Amino acid sequence: MMDRFLIDGGWPLHGDVAISGSKNATLPLMAAALLADGVTTVEGTPDLQDITTMAMVLKVLGADVFADAGRLRIDTTHLSNVEAPYELVRKMRASFYVLGPLVARFGRARVSLPGGCALGPRPVDLHLRALQKLGCRIELDGGYVVAGTDGLVGAKIMLDLASVGATGNIMMAATAAKGTTVIDNAACEPEIVDLADMLNAMGAGVSGAGTRRIEIEGRRPLSPVNWRVIPDRIEAGTYLIAAAGTGGGVNIRDCRPDHLTLLLDKLTDSGFEIEQSPITREGEGKENGDALTITPRSERPRAVDITTAVYPGFPTDLQAPWTSLMALAEGDAVITDTIYPERFNHIPELQRLGAQIRKDLNSIHIRGVERLKGAPLMCSDIRAGAGLVAAALAAEGESTVLRVYHLDRGYEALDGKFAKLGGRIRRVRE
Ligand code: EPZ
Repeated sequence: MMDRFLIDGGWPLHGDVAISGSKNATLPLMAAALLADGVTTVEGTPDLQDITTMAMVLKVLGADVFADAGRLRIDTTHLSNVEAPYELVRKMRASFYVLGPLVARFGRARVSLPGGCALGPRPVDLHLRALQKLGCRIELDGGYVVAGTDGLVGAKIMLDLASVGATGNIMMAATAAKGTTVIDNAACEPEIVDLADMLNAMGAGVSGAGTRRIEIEGRRPLSPVNWRVIPDRIEAGTYLIAAAGTGGGVNIRDCRPDHLTLLLDKLTDSGFEIEQSPITREGEGKENGDALTITPRSERPRAVDITTAVYPGFPTDLQAPWTSLMALAEGDAVITDTIYPERFNHIPELQRLGAQIRKDLNSIHIRGVERLKGAPLMCSDIRAGAGLVAAALAAEGESTVLRVYHLDRGYEALDGKFAKLGGRIRRVRE
């Protein structure tokens, strides 16, 4: 499917938008379901291509997966296969999350290496080295990681980098290890905390998630659970930044402001006013999170530098949207991506809208302009695409955004949600 968006930009967004469940939390939660025998349900899940891809991976392994109205039902009773094939893993790197659970549950796995990616090199060496430390034999065979063990044993693991994926994979594998595993320099992302919380609800002994040191006491077997995934902080951040770019006033519902602290600070530095309010729905308590309201503003944003970093630093997944906001700022901003130094495929596209951006190693220098002007644009990955849509909504006149399948991987009903906010955006189906 090569759908495109037609966007008539330059109009302030206004109104309410509800945030979906987190993609990057749901994906490891789905893999974690493999650790237990029976039916696990995950509630509040987004309807996205990446979730469908993960469901396909689980199905290939023999699980039954049903998706229905924001609820995933994963039945692992008849798991029959330990191989995650190249055809699926190449589509989505997060498929690699099944490695840890498969080794934990069956003592063996054969998972395709994820391969290259538009964000630059994204190796899995940290995942593999950690599994070896836990007593797993790892071989590479024809592009596949072949893992086997006669029994995992807890170990001390120091990650060179606080990798989200490696932290999640190790945590899941270590639930089945004999003794205690310690992960130092662990990722602290909210998605890791959600995974740890679900593992504990399944009977695991994970402590310290959300800090740099996570301890996992091996315990088997784990039991299936019903879990509700956290709201998507990157989706919430994207709508806030897009609203800011158009000068509009938008109410972001069902989000977790505590997961967005640095972004909210940066928006405030840039001159925006944001209010936070708890929302309670009858019978539902506060489980869907709070609301954030960004107030309309007619002045241009002030230029504010960012450097992406591991959580609670500025998320690399909001780097492209922030770049599009700074393209319209008063003054000069410097943006540095320390997580993916090559994640700048959106720059030539933003230049087509009239943005003044110069690249310098892993930084870009932006001189804000008063207005952007619509142009044909092409998405190269999920978040670059989100940055382009945000910029096109702020740019005057018509833009065409090609390859929106990237956006369909990671943003639930992006065009519908922006249209509900008054954005003049239309999907043209091919
Ligand atoms: C997760 O990817 C997210 N994906 C990414 O979001 C996000 O950009 C990234 O974390 C960083 O926040 C999911 O959660 C599914 P990492 P992940 O391992 O886990 C290097 C999106 O659009 N590294 O934390 O793959 C790596 O190259 C996606 O939703 C190694 O060197 O990221 C990178 O520079 C895009 N060796 C850094 O660590 C390894 O073995 C952080 O990567 C693993 C990682």
